[in-house]
Amino acid sequence: MPDTAMVTDRIRIVPTGGALGARVEGFDRTRPCDEATCAALNRAFLEHQLLIVPGAPMTAVQMRDFSAIFGEVVPQLLRYKRVGELPEVSRMESTLKPDGGTDKTAIRAECWHSDDSYMERPAKGTVLHALEIPSRGGMTWFCNMYAVYEALPEATRRQLDGMKAVHAYDTPRALNRPSPRTAEEIAETPDVVHPLVRTHPQTGRKSLYLNFNRLDRILGLPRADSDALLNELQALAELPRFHFGHRWAVGDAIVWDNRCLMHRVDVDYPAGEPRIMLRTLLRGDRPA
Ligand SMILES: [Fe+2]
Repeated sequence: MPDTAMVTDRIRIVPTGGALGARVEGFDRTRPCDEATCAALNRAFLEHQLLIVPGAPMTAVQMRDFSAIFGEVVPQLLRYKRVGELPEVSRMESTLKPDGGTDKTAIRAECWHSDDSYMERPAKGTVLHALEIPSRGGMTWFCNMYAVYEALPEATRRQLDGMKAVHAYDTPRALNRPSPRTAEEIAETPDVVHPLVRTHPQTGRKSLYLNFNRLDRILGLPRADSDALLNELQALAELPRFHFGHRWAVGDAIVWDNRCLMHRVDVDYPAGEPRIMLRTLLRGDRPA
């Protein structure tokens, strides 16, 4: 198996030692990725749920091509964030203004969420790439939803299996309101129903599918009971033992699996210091 040996000689996958994630060492993002290395990266992605791939800042085209190692890169909803003619790459500016405000999406991103869950087929993964970061703060946190599901008592797991929940672009349960949508964007984002427990289509493992910004109610339960159950599940997911936090360096790219992770950002960095990222989303399946 000389190819496999070369892959392991050339790139190294180093687990974070935390609740999830691994760091990829020795990978050159500026060169085309050969088949064996792509396969090794995708295996590591499924095994660790998140990969940190350091390197120099990338152009939007390089970002799209790097992202494509992990799946089909899809156009993103909010037109105003798109980079030039590339509908697949968003420029996310979350610089804090002197009044403490920032872009709406950045404020919302402080709450635990899974990207795109208000879509019928949410993105399977997200790639985020740091172009400029503040001098301190702004860590991104990830929550292992396989582990949250596995921590539930057997009886609760049985109760949740088969339950379905409504995900909405906005819900009164979210602390902050989302970015306004154009008429075209509203037409593209009706409420959707997803299972509360989903089975990963590639690993076969079950995880809890939550999103504190979008999850409105559980189908078939009175609102009060739905709220109580969702609050209980959210409290469990907030326990630090399920989390890994990444402190960004300029040039870092992170790819993570939205099917089994939630994430959030600390909006705790100094005002006026630019925080600029490129983002891509990878085509996913309907949660089941
Ligand atoms: Fe996000």
